[in-house]
Amino acid sequence: MKTKNYSSAPLPFQGQKRRFVKQFIEVIKKRPGQVYVDLFGGSGLLSHVAKSTHPDAQVIFNDYDNFSQRLSNIPKTNILLSDLRELNKGINPDAKLSDSQRERVLKRIKQENGFVNYITLSSSLLFAMQYVKSFDDLSKSTFYNKVKMSDYNADGYLSGVDIVKDDYRNVYSAFKDQPGVVFLIDPPYLSTDCSSYENYWRLKDYLDVMLCLYDNSYVYFTSNKSNIVELCEWIETNTGGKNPFNGAVTQTMSVSPTYNTSYTDMMIYKYI
Ligand SMILES: C[S@@+](CC[C@H](N)C(=O)[O-])C[C@H]1O[C@@H](n2cnc3c(N)ncnc32)[C@H](O)[C@@H]1O
Repeated sequence: MKTKNYSSAPLPFQGQKRRFVKQFIEVIKKRPGQVYVDLFGGSGLLSHVAKSTHPDAQVIFNDYDNFSQRLSNIPKTNILLSDLRELNKGINPDAKLSDSQRERVLKRIKQENGFVNYITLSSSLLFAMQYVKSFDDLSKSTFYNKVKMSDYNADGYLSGVDIVKDDYRNVYSAFKDQPGVVFLIDPPYLSTDCSSYENYWRLKDYLDVMLCLYDNSYVYFTSNKSNIVELCEWIETNTGGKNPFNGAVTQTMSVSPTYNTSYTDMMIYKYI
């Protein structure tokens, strides 16, 4: 049976690589029959795309953020969102909710038992790019009517993908000596909003990831905001240190999050 190919994560996820999907497919098509290890899996989008491009390859999704828990709770989330849709009936899309409209939405959310998908609720109720992880934080926020009209669905999204959940260093150690591995390396960006991630990344954390690039095949994602490529070139030129990007190919994409800001996202790959 042909399964669906997703070009974006089936639930909201900050930092997912949906803009790079087409280029990523072209890059991994060059290397069939490999093991793909998605060290910073996030929404699992790169793992999904690797598996659908190479169905016979082993694909490991490091689900550090427990995205699969959000996926398995989609039916529950859909019921909650359907109730919110009903409560918000008659309110214009994207309009700010009044205090009483907001209160009744909060009252409904409070009735939930067990897992509540606050990230998806954030994208259904909060201003663009704002994410909360708890009821307390949600109840301090201004609400907008942004509930999607259709249900979420993730059928087949991670089928055939092996899921692990660990610090990337441990996952890396487990696979680094295995032949035919391509590491997919998409760490949290430096100096960007990481509010919906599990923890915050400093420069040292970011540089430590470079150790996974040496002597490995990889597809690495970064942006010109981190200046990491420039830093590695500088170190090589001035200290004789080895630049992990030597011999790698870079593809870029310009991103404009607002009308007067822009930066360049990069996908850098090397096959050894
Ligand atoms: C830029 S996102 C990855 C996005 C992913 N490629 C996608 O398309 O959805 C970086 C991810 O690394 C996770 N992360 C942070 N610290 C980590 C660690 N020590 N080990 C593994 N993952 C980590 C973050 O929580 C976040 O989900």
